Amino acid sequence: MNLIRLQTVDSTNEYLKKGVFPDGTVVFSDEQTAGKGSNGRSFLSPSGGIYFSILFSEPKREVLPYITPVAAVAVRRALASVFNARPEIKWVNDLYLSGKKICGILCENVSSGVIIGIGVNVSRPKEGFPPELRDIAGYVSEKSPTEEEKLTFVQTVSETFFSLLSLPHSVLAKEYRSHSFVIGKKAVLTRGDETFCGVVKDIDEEFRLILTTEKGDETFFSGTLRLI
Ligand code: BTN
Repeated sequence: MNLIRLQTVDSTNEYLKKGVFPDGTVVFSDEQTAGKGSNGRSFLSPSGGIYFSILFSEPKREVLPYITPVAAVAVRRALASVFNARPEIKWVNDLYLSGKKICGILCENVSSGVIIGIGVNVSRPKEGFPPELRDIAGYVSEKSPTEEEKLTFVQTVSETFFSLLSLPHSVLAKEYRSHSFVIGKKAVLTRGDETFCGVVKDIDEEFRLILTTEKGDETFFSGTLRLI
C-alpha cells in the first residue's frame, strides 16, 4: 500500500486532488481542518478519528455505481475485525453504532478516477462533540487506538475494498443489506429539491433503496435518507 501518513491536513480528499499518485494510494490523517461531508456540508474531523482517502484510478464503468456501498461494506468488515465493533449501515454511506453515526463516506469523481474519503470517529474527541452533534455522533471505543491498530484498520479497509470489487454485485448487496438497519422503517428521502416520504421496503441487488410511498414503490440510486 502506498500510504501517506499525516498528522493534520485540510482534507485528505483534497490532498489527493493536488498531486499525481499511483492507483491505490491512501492518505491518512489524524485530523482535518476542513473536512468535507456529503452535499457540500463540512465534516467535523477532530483528532481522535481516522480520516483517510483512497485513490481508485480508472475504475471500470460497471463498478462506478457500487463504489460507495462497497466501501461501506469494507469499513464495516474492518471495524469488526480490527476493533471488534458491530456497526450497522444506513443507506447509502453511513455507519452507525448504538444508534449514532460513527462513519461517513464521501466519494468524489476526479479526472484521475475516484477518491473514496472515509471518516471514522474511533474514539471520543478530547473536547467532546459540539452540542449540535451530541445526539447524533458516536464513536467506536472508549479506548484510543494504537498507531498499529489505526494502520491495520486503514490497510484492511483498502485491501478489502479492492478485493470485494471482484465479487458479483448481487453478493455484495446481500451483505450490505444484511447489515442495514433501515428496512421496514418510516423515512423521508431527499433528492435534490424533491422529498419522498414512506416506508423503506428493501435494498435491491444494485444497492438501490425501494421506498413504499402513498403513490407506490419508488426506487432510488441516491439521496439522503432520514428515519422518522
Ligand atoms: C458524510 O458523512 O457527510 C461524509 C463524510 C466523509 C468524511 C471523509 S474524512 C476523509 C475524507 N476527507 C474529507 O474531507 N472527507 C472525507
